[in-house]
Amino acid sequence: MRTNQPTTIRLSEYKVPAHLVDAVDLRFELFDNGARVHSTLTVRRNPESAEEFAPLELDGDSLKLEQVILDGRELMAGNDYDETGAQLVIARVPAQFELTVVTWIEPQNNTRLEGLYKSSGMFCTQCEAEGFRCITYFPDRPDVMARYRTRIEADKASCPVLLSNGNDVDRGDLEGGRHFVTWEDPFPKPSYLFALVAGDLVEKQDTFTTCSGREIDLRIFVEPRNAAKCQHAMDSLKRSMRWDEEVYGREYDLDIFMIVAVDDFNMGAMENKGLNIFNSSCVLASQETATDLAFQRIESIVAHEYFHNWSGNRVTCRDWFQLSLKEGFTVFRDSTFSADMGSPTVKRIEDVTLLRTAQFAEDAGPMAHPVRPASYMEISNFYTLTIYEKGAEVVRMIHTLLGPELFRKGSDLYFERHDGQAVTTDDFVKAMEDASGRDLTQFRLWYDQAGTPVLTVSDVYDSERGVYSLKIQQAIPDTPGQTNKKPQHIPFALGLLGAEGEALPLRLVSTEDAASAPTERVLELTKASHTFEFHGLTQKPVPSLLRHFSAPVRLVYPWSREQLVFLMSHDPDGFNRWDAGQRLAVDVIQSLVDSSGTVDIDSRLVEAYRTLLADRTLDQALVAKMLHLPSEAYLIELADSPDVAAIHRTREQVLSHLATSLRDELVACYHRNMDDGEYEVTPESVARRSLKNTALAWLLMINDNTGRDLALQQLREADNMTDRMGALRALVNSDYAEERSQALADFYEHFQSDPQVVEQWFSVQASSDRAGQLPQIQALLKHPAFDWKNPNKIRSVIGVFAGQNLAAFHNPDGSGYSFLADQVCRLDDSNPQIAARLVAPLTRWKKFAPAYSALMRTALERIRNKAELSADLYEVVHKSLE
Ligand code: ARG
Ligand code: ZN
Repeated sequence: MRTNQPTTIRLSEYKVPAHLVDAVDLRFELFDNGARVHSTLTVRRNPESAEEFAPLELDGDSLKLEQVILDGRELMAGNDYDETGAQLVIARVPAQFELTVVTWIEPQNNTRLEGLYKSSGMFCTQCEAEGFRCITYFPDRPDVMARYRTRIEADKASCPVLLSNGNDVDRGDLEGGRHFVTWEDPFPKPSYLFALVAGDLVEKQDTFTTCSGREIDLRIFVEPRNAAKCQHAMDSLKRSMRWDEEVYGREYDLDIFMIVAVDDFNMGAMENKGLNIFNSSCVLASQETATDLAFQRIESIVAHEYFHNWSGNRVTCRDWFQLSLKEGFTVFRDSTFSADMGSPTVKRIEDVTLLRTAQFAEDAGPMAHPVRPASYMEISNFYTLTIYEKGAEVVRMIHTLLGPELFRKGSDLYFERHDGQAVTTDDFVKAMEDASGRDLTQFRLWYDQAGTPVLTVSDVYDSERGVYSLKIQQAIPDTPGQTNKKPQHIPFALGLLGAEGEALPLRLVSTEDAASAPTERVLELTKASHTFEFHGLTQKPVPSLLRHFSAPVRLVYPWSREQLVFLMSHDPDGFNRWDAGQRLAVDVIQSLVDSSGTVDIDSRLVEAYRTLLADRTLDQALVAKMLHLPSEAYLIELADSPDVAAIHRTREQVLSHLATSLRDELVACYHRNMDDGEYEVTPESVARRSLKNTALAWLLMINDNTGRDLALQQLREADNMTDRMGALRALVNSDYAEERSQALADFYEHFQSDPQVVEQWFSVQASSDRAGQLPQIQALLKHPAFDWKNPNKIRSVIGVFAGQNLAAFHNPDGSGYSFLADQVCRLDDSNPQIAARLVAPLTRWKKFAPAYSALMRTALERIRNKAELSADLYEVVHKSLE
């Protein structure tokens, strides 16, 4: 904790480490009142470092130092070494030596959940990015890679299971009812990949035979009460292992792969070598307790962490500015995997929704940073949508530009060239260039320039020449510290449609043969302005632009509503069909917001939805997505100076108008999708449940009791959480106050012993403008199931309120803002990472209409004035007030 300004770390000041560590020998003595850590490092001077006589500098945080021994000689504080707050410095060290450091730590009091801590009685670790220094003194940077041997000693009764990275090589009993296990990891790794778990756990076991015929032991460790909730994660793991062999040629390397579920965890999951640690909510699932969305999320997170074994562990990051090297690439890998497991169009829609709603907002806000940032104060603040999602889009664009074969050649070369190394995003791009022969010099700007490019498209049709010209201009907005940006290299996929919806040949020169010309092309934009001519067209086509969302940009084109309706039912690109529907709905809602008062809803929107509801030929998963109106968050993101209350009100009006006009179609849709037999998580049955539950939610917007009765019946009869939650959510968001309270009470009664379900129960209330007004939120914080030490509970109430219940959070009296400020200040003392994440909605204050933004700013200033701000919160709050 500090009040002083934390130091800024800059990429331009990167220096290779002065010392390297070849081996780490760890011995943990775990007790109820703390843990003693004995660490012996085999150190040598780095021949690549210019600083020949550099002192040995080890990082540390919240450690009690007990002993330092260098080559068998005990060192004296002050004389031989200095222990400054965050470092242990030994001024004079030989070229090669062995150093033993003994530290005492208190996992039971560690509420930051970084380093070694306790979660429901079990010991566990989280070391990325800089948690290892909370365990022992160490050069805690990813370019120091060492072999680890770890001996864990603990009470046998309370900690029968003792885990660390690699292979289990020795075990035995000790005096006093204690025992030990020793683990050895043959692969050199950075300290952020170290992991340890000790507790009373049960395991689910399985095996996987790799492509070369090796049998891998797979184990998922959970608390005994969760034993029946591991099957889905295990199946997902096996599918991921197979997929990475088939698509990337990557085989697993150790003999055992373990996953552990932990209740108190700051994020989703962590890819520690051979011992992935997961937030319980990202691994445990059963039909009765997890929604379809949760099943899909678990599959993708299990895949993500598994894929890190190559993209992250075997090839790791040189420094934390390169974080997207592993995260962007791995998100790209997991999203392709999910697309292959389900519906590629739906997966793309989900990814783009997140990107456009949240990453674009980040890119337009005070914390905007490039995919490879140039500086940071607290690296934990840079685990962002930009690093992850935009980073994945950048890799996707390389894939688009190179095509699948050359991309695979590039990834093979990357893994081969850099196996066992700590490298940079530039090394990744270089491998792609070398394997493909393509020049990606300009493309690299995607890594260094922040901000979302805006593409403005205009067109003219020359009927005499039969030529359709498209003019595409790109501009990249200024972001903090960056102005006058250069044009980027952008792959722009498009098609043109004729009056009957036919795909027209795209002839870029008049001599091109119509029969062989493709109907979809990827244009490459490299300049601020381009004009493309398409020849041989007898009428003005309808353009289908930026297909599959081929680049993470804002696209501006003056579509007419007729064109959008046309694309909704004719575009051969499913993604663009969905996008046309979104644009139409956005246009209708926006014009109603602007026209304040008159509620005259364009009948074309109603008819377009009617057509959709009747369409049985289209992929039902796509129909289900198309029926979702653009979210409030997205509408706010698109608006300048948004008036949140007006957007909320208008969107609700449009929804209830649609529901009333389409009542019969909705009832039919509900019944048609009702019986889906045995519960399965296949794209088809997920789509059916989604359609059914969307229809239900809409029907509850009409107060004629049809929806209410269906919801109550569904709540009684549901055999799975998706349907239960669908009915509960619809009731909670309806005007049926009595049914709402009854349903919430019954649900809690039934599921109170299951933390993952209780989290959903909190969220459904916190996100509702009916059940989640501030007094109700405050009551949830006092609920016996709420736990200030559990990030999931904090997120499901406070995070969901500020991030999803926008009308209540942006209450014009400022109460939502001041509530958030209070909670952030409180949490900063126990868990700074969580505090700095929760504050995000306030940091966007400049965007909002003046009445809102003044109050948001006041709330932020109050946080800034708090005594003892963590580095995490300091950076976010100060940068957003600049
Ligand atoms: N590497 C982890 C992943 O798979 C996330 C680690 C996040 N760390 C943090 N300090 N937020 O994405
Ligand atoms: Zn990751």
